[in-house]
Amino acid sequence: MNTSRSEFSNLNVAMVGCGTVGSGVVRILNSSPELLSRRAGREMRLRRIVVRDSARQRDVPLQGIDLTTDFEQIIRDPEIQVVIYVAGGTDPAFSHISRCLDAGKDVITANKAVLHHYGSELFEQAGKNGRTICFEAAVAGGIPVISAVTQALTANRILSIEAILNGTSNFILSKMLDLRQPYEAALVEAQQLGYAEADPAMDVDGTDAAQKLSILTQLAFGTRVTLDQIVRQGIQQLELMDLLVAADLGYRIKLLATSRISRGRLEVSVQPTLIRSDRPVAQTGGADNIVAIEGDACGLLRLSGAGAGQMPTASAVVADLIDYASGRAALTFQSLLRVRSLPALPLQPTDELSRRYYLRFMVADKPHVLADIADVLGRHEISISSVRQDETPDDVDENECVARLVIMTHRTSQGRLLAAQAEIAKLPSMRGLSICLPVAD
Ligand code: HSE
Repeated sequence: MNTSRSEFSNLNVAMVGCGTVGSGVVRILNSSPELLSRRAGREMRLRRIVVRDSARQRDVPLQGIDLTTDFEQIIRDPEIQVVIYVAGGTDPAFSHISRCLDAGKDVITANKAVLHHYGSELFEQAGKNGRTICFEAAVAGGIPVISAVTQALTANRILSIEAILNGTSNFILSKMLDLRQPYEAALVEAQQLGYAEADPAMDVDGTDAAQKLSILTQLAFGTRVTLDQIVRQGIQQLELMDLLVAADLGYRIKLLATSRISRGRLEVSVQPTLIRSDRPVAQTGGADNIVAIEGDACGLLRLSGAGAGQMPTASAVVADLIDYASGRAALTFQSLLRVRSLPALPLQPTDELSRRYYLRFMVADKPHVLADIADVLGRHEISISSVRQDETPDDVDENECVARLVIMTHRTSQGRLLAAQAEIAKLPSMRGLSICLPVAD
């Protein structure tokens, strides 16, 4: 076999962050170093780790690794070729990664926030400096969706991506429905299991999924979308009754991330969505993620598995490291940079998004309430597909008695729907917040 010298030279690696994912990386590297080195074509040595608190007890052995709080030690060490960046947030992540690239070091990261906010700048800088950035772990944990889009599916025009990209929110929705568990208890369990972000608000308000979707959208459609351009709705306002009613109607509610081309325009959204119960996306439970990608040549592909958690995410980081060590990552990154210069697609104005909707209102149980709501919907040219209201007791004061009214609409535009919803919110018979969710066809 003809081998170059670099294939057999050791690879010196540093890591920034040794929390949940970082500890998982150490664990994998320690578990079968010989096998991993064979796959990489050379020995991979984790030499330095930068942490916030070097005195903290860690549950992985770190002998032989220089643990420091000084990031500059990495920059000054000429032997470090690649930096695994598994600390979160954008500050100082952006400046740290940028400094690594300037110092001639390549970067492997699981940090989706920094890629979402500064990916373009960092990729450009890496391109100019002849450096490589690998980021499989930034989207959907252990599911190899980045390599699918940037390598395996490059013969295709991608037509759509429909995905569950946040493990925490999927875990919460699954637990609520399966165990009739309250939202708060399910969230605490997701945090204890290491799925949630440091600030779990980002998991449940759709930010985490939207950041991941924006990275996928850029790779699949060559179009950069900001958080503001993504129609975004979280799961915080959902109640167990919504999950139960939807289940009764034959649907599951999932935090669905969608990016698709429709009549030459790109639709990008992250919303709790009703999906028919028999569809694989609806059946993806627990903290699992699923990514359904439709390509014009390959048809519909589905990748599913653990989208969060220590070892699945670490698996993606170490796979990137092996790809990097073997020289494959540099080639993939170069090709990714070339594709990024294709013209961006126009975005579909959000008012023109066309879907069916699930509407849930809490209303005073008295005459004309249903007629008033139907009247507003009708005036906005929204057609009702079904109406459901459970029987309420007959002997309660009608002003005290609150009824739950669920209306499924036929397809309509989001603009019409929002206008009608604002008008309905002002009706005197409304009690509490209403919920409006799209239905996936
Ligand atoms: N907090 C994320 C999730 C995991 O729950 O999916 C890391 O992206």
